[in-house]
Amino acid sequence: MGEKVCLITGATSGIGKATAMGLASMGASVVMVGRDRGRGEAALAEVKEGSLNASVDLMLADLSSQQEIRRLADEFKETYLRLDVLINNAGLFRSKRVTIADGLEMTFAVNHLAHFLLTNLLLDLLKASAPSRIVNVSSGDHASGTIDFDDLQQEKRYKGAKAYSQSKLANVLFTYELAKRLEGTGVSANCLHPGAGIRTNFGSGVSGIFGFTVRALTPLMKSPEKGADTSIYLASSPEVEGLSGRYFVKKAAARSSDLSHDKRLARRLWEVSADLTNLRVQNL
Ligand SMILES: NC(=O)c1ccc[n+]([C@@H]2O[C@H](COP(=O)([O-])OP(=O)(O)OC[C@H]3O[C@@H](n4cnc5c(N)ncnc54)[C@H](OP(=O)(O)O)[C@@H]3O)[C@@H](O)[C@H]2O)c1
Repeated sequence: MGEKVCLITGATSGIGKATAMGLASMGASVVMVGRDRGRGEAALAEVKEGSLNASVDLMLADLSSQQEIRRLADEFKETYLRLDVLINNAGLFRSKRVTIADGLEMTFAVNHLAHFLLTNLLLDLLKASAPSRIVNVSSGDHASGTIDFDDLQQEKRYKGAKAYSQSKLANVLFTYELAKRLEGTGVSANCLHPGAGIRTNFGSGVSGIFGFTVRALTPLMKSPEKGADTSIYLASSPEVEGLSGRYFVKKAAARSSDLSHDKRLARRLWEVSADLTNLRVQNL
């Protein structure tokens, strides 16, 4: 990975930080994205020290703000001449409905729209750096998800689990549609389930039965390093060179839910996402 530049969102903790550590240890130049300077700098120092690699950088952006995502993309393009691997990893679960700018619901905005926008803003650079890779961290929970276009922001009735599984299904649909649109460019797009029950900060701010269950099971959970295995594999392995539009579990291609293969649904989600992110000029 010596010459490779990798950008990872949600790199301040859990699977994202372990992914940054893994790729930096392989010699890649790693750019860690975080939203909080204190947590970001602590994670940056840990990864630099643990990987013995000085080519690790931190960029700050709150992914619930489309303005900050646009600034992040500009900053990245001003600083780096290439992007070999983009890992869209940041994610959250909200027990109660939280809205951000324009009335967007937080889970959908951060887990899906932020990565839709960031990826599109970086596509020129990814194409110029081909062969390059996009890796989207979804979840096995996508399988219980549906995309409710009549209530995408869950204004009528909010349920944390429903919002989360919808956002994770959106990750898979986005990956498949993106891979189709990227055919022939040398840029691949794959997604993955990192495994269930990875011991991260994921359940820390979550209330209710989900939060209780996550905290109760914490001692039995798998390490963040284990959770990062498939992300690192998709980012670096020659075995997946040229493979695109696939869903991976435990470093192997797997079948995602039937709904995730609905091409009309994926196209519609893309169009709605482009509207919601004001992505008028698209590269695809
Ligand atoms: N843990 C599991 O068992 C599991 C299972 C399936 C899928 N996943 C997926 O794995 C991915 C990583 O999650 P994790 O388990 O490693 O959880 P985590 O430890 O909570 O890490 C989530 C990361 O996302 C960042 N983030 C959250 N909201 C953000 C925002 N508004 N702007 C910028 N960054 C933001 C967090 O930053 P802060 O440090 O600032 O909070 C953190 O770096 C997620 O996409 C999740 O859906 C996890």
